[in-house]
Amino acid sequence: MVRLVFKQIQYRLLVSYLAVFASILGTFAIAVRIVYAHSLRQQLTNELTTLGQGAVTSAEFDHGRLQVGNDISVQDLIARGQAMQWFDLRGQLIAQQGKTISTLPFSSLETSQIQSSSPRIQLVTLPIVSSNNQHQLGYVRASQSLEELDENLQKLDWGLGSGIVMALMLSGIGGVWLTRQAMSPIEESFQRLKQFTADASHELRNPLMAIKSNVSVALKYPDGMRPIDAEKFAAIASASDQMAHLTEDLLLLARTDKATKPEQQPIDLTEILERLVELYQLQAQTKQITLQTNLAQSAYVFGDVAQLTRLFTNLIVNALHYTLKGGRVEVNLSRTGQSLIVDVTDTGVGIAPEHLARVFDRFWRADQSRAYWKGGSGLGLAIAQSIVQSHRGTITVKSQINVGSYFTVRLPLFAGSTCPK
Ligand SMILES: Nc1ncnc2c1ncn2[C@@H]1O[C@H](COP(=O)(O)OP(=O)(O)OP(=O)(O)O)[C@@H](O)[C@H]1O
Ligand SMILES: [Mg+2]
Repeated sequence: MVRLVFKQIQYRLLVSYLAVFASILGTFAIAVRIVYAHSLRQQLTNELTTLGQGAVTSAEFDHGRLQVGNDISVQDLIARGQAMQWFDLRGQLIAQQGKTISTLPFSSLETSQIQSSSPRIQLVTLPIVSSNNQHQLGYVRASQSLEELDENLQKLDWGLGSGIVMALMLSGIGGVWLTRQAMSPIEESFQRLKQFTADASHELRNPLMAIKSNVSVALKYPDGMRPIDAEKFAAIASASDQMAHLTEDLLLLARTDKATKPEQQPIDLTEILERLVELYQLQAQTKQITLQTNLAQSAYVFGDVAQLTRLFTNLIVNALHYTLKGGRVEVNLSRTGQSLIVDVTDTGVGIAPEHLARVFDRFWRADQSRAYWKGGSGLGLAIAQSIVQSHRGTITVKSQINVGSYFTVRLPLFAGSTCPK
């Protein structure tokens, strides 16, 4: 189960790493694209300005009209996808040469324009000034198709796009290796910590047993013992019981966390639940709580008897601890599709909405819990969740304060669930 958590962290790390890398590459590609497109346009504008300046000299004023000479090679213009247009001061077209002629209306105000409708054309407008008296005679408009420039930009886009995809694929492969390298020491130290918890809990058992048995012997023969000492011994007995419970829980958690699967076999959940409800009937009656069941006939899961018993014990015991006198606890077992669903419902004190996400945390207890059950350590639900996960199931909780709680365990149905009893 821990392995799964580490895998999820590794996956999240990889995704964030790739997202950061993709955004850096994307920003870089956009910047390159903008600079390259700008420099190509600038280059084109410069070329058209030079061409226009040449065309200015081929225009002259003759008999009060603007005349255009023919020293511009039309063949050259056509070959380069360019065109020239001469306008008088009123913007009337006087002459034009070349093939890519713009349909944009003449404007003396804009020196550089782009015709965006197809074919896309870049235009540069220059004034024609008389060399004799510096009077303005008209305008010349040089234009060139943007087809070649757009093709170049498209090639660049493809190049950048495929470069980014390749880089992301390679860095994805590298990222998998890197995140594995980064996670393995963390995973190792986590496993060592788990092993330490398991070993420490295991080693604590014997001295605890010794304390417990010595105290119970002392309490068995209270003659000659001062009453105050008897009270102290009783307190030691209760504390050592609590510690024994805690070490057992820690040991169990460390064991269920291990990657190795527990010994599993087909188990009838109905039987386990029936036995448990019978076992806790007396405790329920003492607290005047109605403990009821509603179980499917026989329902098999593939699992570990001891662990599954522990799982439902924790849920039933919680329901009994956190339900007040006169309340009701129900254990229901049903089947849906390929799953078995066990609901443990109570009419107890409930859990506040802001605490719902924390109930499965290790050592977490609601502040008021001590008022209902002093001996708790806050490991019961963490153990329950760990067991459910090692059986490839899910556990969820719904609750409302002072109304009750509703724990749902969903486990995969054993494939050969028609097993005879
Ligand atoms: N059925 C329930 N109704 C109300 N509160 C609950 C219920 N079950 C659990 N809780 C809350 O969740 C906390 C954690 O439960 P958990 O079983 O993990 O620990 P615990 O019962 O306090 O101690 P223990 O380790 O002995 O089980 C409880 O202290 C209690 O606040
Ligand atoms: Mg509990």
